[in-house]
Amino acid sequence: MYLTTLLLLLGASTVLAERPFVNEPDTGLRLDEIQTGTLPQLKDMHTIPDFEAAARHYMPIQNYSYYRTGSSGEFSYRAALEIFNEVKLRPRFLRDMSNISLSTSVFNYTFSVPFFIAPAARAGLAHPGAEVNFVRAAGVGKVLYSPSLSSTLKIEQIGSAALPEQVMFHQLYVSKNKTKLASDLKRIEKSGFKAIFVTIDNPIHGIRPREARYGFSNVTDHDSAFSWDSYQELRKMTHLPVIPKGVQTVEDALIALQLGAPGIYISNHGGRQLDTSPQAIETCLEIYQNAPEIFKRMEVFADGGVRYGTDVLKLLAMGVKMVGMARPFLFANVFGEEGIWRAIEMMRREVWVDAANLGVRDVREIDTSYLNMKRLERFVWEMK
Ligand SMILES: Cc1cc2nc3c(=O)[nH]c(=O)nc-3n(C[C@H](O)[C@H](O)[C@H](O)COP(=O)(O)O)c2cc1C
Repeated sequence: MYLTTLLLLLGASTVLAERPFVNEPDTGLRLDEIQTGTLPQLKDMHTIPDFEAAARHYMPIQNYSYYRTGSSGEFSYRAALEIFNEVKLRPRFLRDMSNISLSTSVFNYTFSVPFFIAPAARAGLAHPGAEVNFVRAAGVGKVLYSPSLSSTLKIEQIGSAALPEQVMFHQLYVSKNKTKLASDLKRIEKSGFKAIFVTIDNPIHGIRPREARYGFSNVTDHDSAFSWDSYQELRKMTHLPVIPKGVQTVEDALIALQLGAPGIYISNHGGRQLDTSPQAIETCLEIYQNAPEIFKRMEVFADGGVRYGTDVLKLLAMGVKMVGMARPFLFANVFGEEGIWRAIEMMRREVWVDAANLGVRDVREIDTSYLNMKRLERFVWEMK
């Protein structure tokens, strides 16, 4: 009996250890019937991962690889897609779910959904409309979009595509060249952007094998000497709120709070920088257990591997205000503006349906009572 149990356990652990990584689950999308290099039909996209499958089928391999790459062994890249399943939901029933509110405000700007289009370089690799496609779809949908400083189009071209009342933020890499930095800030302000995400998780461009294979050179002009002191200097150079993007520990979150930062952006850069760095939900749990006041005292943004409505809800439940997605929209852009629009509407519907089935009438009121985090807790670091 004892031996049988032992053998069964050994067998099960071998099977689990050998479980292959699945980039996208089987959603029934049939690409084998369409010639490689041909775009499938937009109406056949029924879930966010469908867009990546379609883009891989259609895009030149080098362009797809630039979007898809993670760093080193891509452990963080893979974990981002798998970790949400480690957190289980605790749905509550028999509440009136006939009215669900998804709208969210940050810095007194109200958006129709609690997710946003995260900054990502080179939208033009998927579609000639590049970043303008994102601006237009986000504008119509009242969704936050933050273009990257390494965009295909110029800051002014992106800014001028906005609707009159549309609110956009802008990502910044801090140039070594102080004149360029001052000019970047001025251009962002003049083009009407309302806040800045300054990326802090890339003192040096990460090791990215898939990107290197196709000879993509690093286009990022970022000062490796950028420090918390320079962050304070940067804030004096602009009237816009400056939010550090790439926070991964409670210590850095606390420094940001002590310095009076208006917010933090929890992210590991889509697993493209330091491999085996933590996922946003792990960092959230670390902050929640060691310094929960952070979620109350600043605006918290987070991203990485978000593909489903339930992923968004899990991060919101931890205390995150707005949840970002980059690759889903980059891949949806193979269909142009219509693709981005379909991806936004798909996520809007998922968050709405999932919130109703979780028992959450207003996404601003969700909290950790809706989560079972027992499986995640074993990795969380405790402050001494
Ligand atoms: C192709 C690509 C380009 C990116 N470019 C930037 C960038 O220019 N600046 C930045 O701060 N983050 C950049 N990121 C990171 C995203 O902002 C975001 O943190 C991450 O991709 C979120 O994970 P997801 O792609 O799984 O949604 C990029 C990500 C991708 C995939």
